[in-house]
Amino acid sequence: MPDELDLLISRDRIGARIDELASAIDADYAAVDELVLIGVLKGSFIFLADLARRLTIRHRVEFIAVSSYGDRESTESGAVRLLMDVRHDIAGQHVLVVEDIIDTGHTLAYLLRLLEARGPASLRACTLLRKPDREQVEVPIAYLGFDIEDVWVVGYGLDFAERYRTLPDICAVRR
Ligand code: PRP
Repeated sequence: MPDELDLLISRDRIGARIDELASAIDADYAAVDELVLIGVLKGSFIFLADLARRLTIRHRVEFIAVSSYGDRESTESGAVRLLMDVRHDIAGQHVLVVEDIIDTGHTLAYLLRLLEARGPASLRACTLLRKPDREQVEVPIAYLGFDIEDVWVVGYGLDFAERYRTLPDICAVRR
């Protein structure tokens, strides 16, 4: 592991938690024809891949991309921009938004507003990580992996200036 990183959540703990989340989602959507998973790029790509492969219910995968966290000021002011939309209409569909991390909450709040306006049959959110101390807008989370401290985290999809996304564990960047 690089020197500037401290292990925060090991791959084993991540895997065990995703087993639990997938079981809960399987149970909750057992009666639904098809669940639409919408991964929020880029950070969620690894979490979404691992979560989706554990689901036994019928599902399909979509992606959406919004403006970058790198532009911290605009994110904190709540100005989120849509960079890439999903490819299919979600009207009448059961939708689960899959995020890697909720920080201020602005991104997810924006996405839920955007998607709700399209008339899905149901709309919920799942996030692997959340930083309760950073919350500026309250967003409903149906499925949560871990609450964490306000530290910069990398690995398992999360980056620091595009580095470390593919580390298998979640680590904190030492400041
Ligand atoms: C991260 C994360 C969320 C958002 C959360 O994405 O994946 O989408 O920031 O922040 P918020 O709760 O303060 O709105 P980021 O912009 O880092 O982009 P990336 O996933 O492409 O790395």
